[in-house]
Amino acid sequence: MVSPRFPFGVPRHEPWVALAPMADATDPAFRRLVASYAPPTLTWTEFVSADGLWHLIEREGRKTPEDNPLLTDLQYSECERPIIAQLFGSNPQRMRFAARVVADLGFDGIDINMGCPDRAVLRQGAGASLIEQPSLASELVAAAREGAGGLPVSVKTRLGLRHDVLEAWLPVLLQGGVWLVTIHARTARELSKVPARWERIKDAVALRNLLAPSVAILGNGDIASLTEAKEKARTVGVDGTMVGRAVLGAPWFFRGDAEVGFEERVDALVRYSVSFAALLPHKPFTKAQRMFKAFLRGVPGGKVVLRELLAARSASEVVQVARRHGWKGEVAFAAENAL
Ligand SMILES: Cc1cc2nc3c(=O)[nH]c(=O)nc-3n(C[C@H](O)[C@H](O)[C@H](O)COP(=O)(O)O)c2cc1C
Repeated sequence: MVSPRFPFGVPRHEPWVALAPMADATDPAFRRLVASYAPPTLTWTEFVSADGLWHLIEREGRKTPEDNPLLTDLQYSECERPIIAQLFGSNPQRMRFAARVVADLGFDGIDINMGCPDRAVLRQGAGASLIEQPSLASELVAAAREGAGGLPVSVKTRLGLRHDVLEAWLPVLLQGGVWLVTIHARTARELSKVPARWERIKDAVALRNLLAPSVAILGNGDIASLTEAKEKARTVGVDGTMVGRAVLGAPWFFRGDAEVGFEERVDALVRYSVSFAALLPHKPFTKAQRMFKAFLRGVPGGKVVLRELLAARSASEVVQVARRHGWKGEVAFAAENAL
């Protein structure tokens, strides 16, 4: 059955399958690569600090991607639509400001992170700590909606900060004016160390049906394949699922293949490297290289190439290594795609 809650036309998958926000992983180059194989139903950016955007733009006057690294991180291409920018923060005025920036950049939606367990984020009163500050959480949603000028606002969260408080927490969001809640089925304290509790997502759906039937729910946690993503959504009754780590070494995830050979993996890695260098010149190339291991995991012959790739100092050196190992693609083509 097609979910009526999708605000962006006809969803690409039914149930929906979204690409999760992953800091330092789903950067503009990686997202573009994912979309080049088969796009997800919905794409999230990495999280971006609302305070940081406010500070760099309002206080320092840095208004272009050339002089503002956060605007560089917020680059996207048309093939990634519908694309949702994720913000984190705990100051409603700055959240309103950041939502306006995101809306002006042409994003399709704005998501507020209320699930991040990172200590630095928690210390700011943002991320998962908002689960224990429900009135501030509601203020942030209201502020984002004001700044968003009509764009749909959503929240991504967890079952709780220290303990599972889903029944107390979810109604705050359901009644706060969001169109979608994504639930990562663990508490923040659990990080990703215990299996995701999908039975609690089922409980979330029951609560949603009771309190706010028009709000969509995405379930998140431990999904390994496109088939599992759809099956899980159907058995649990959510509108869709969100997938993170399983996409990291597999940008073709949304195409649904089981096996992808050495050549295609090297090709993906080259295209990612060239895009990364072109789109994110402010980031050290070693950040792109962190992804290489995932691309070549478990592939026969992968270890030797990986060693050489990790010794490369730039995208063009990556191309040279790939050529030595039989890659026949065109750099000009790859570079063209990057721009
Ligand atoms: C490297 C990495 C970075 C992440 N960054 C973010 C982030 O910026 N915002 C967010 O809401 N969640 C972030 N997450 C959490 C994921 O979006 C997702 O909820 C989590 O990985 C569980 O889904 P999975 O089992 O499909 O990976 C991150 C996860 C990883 C592994």
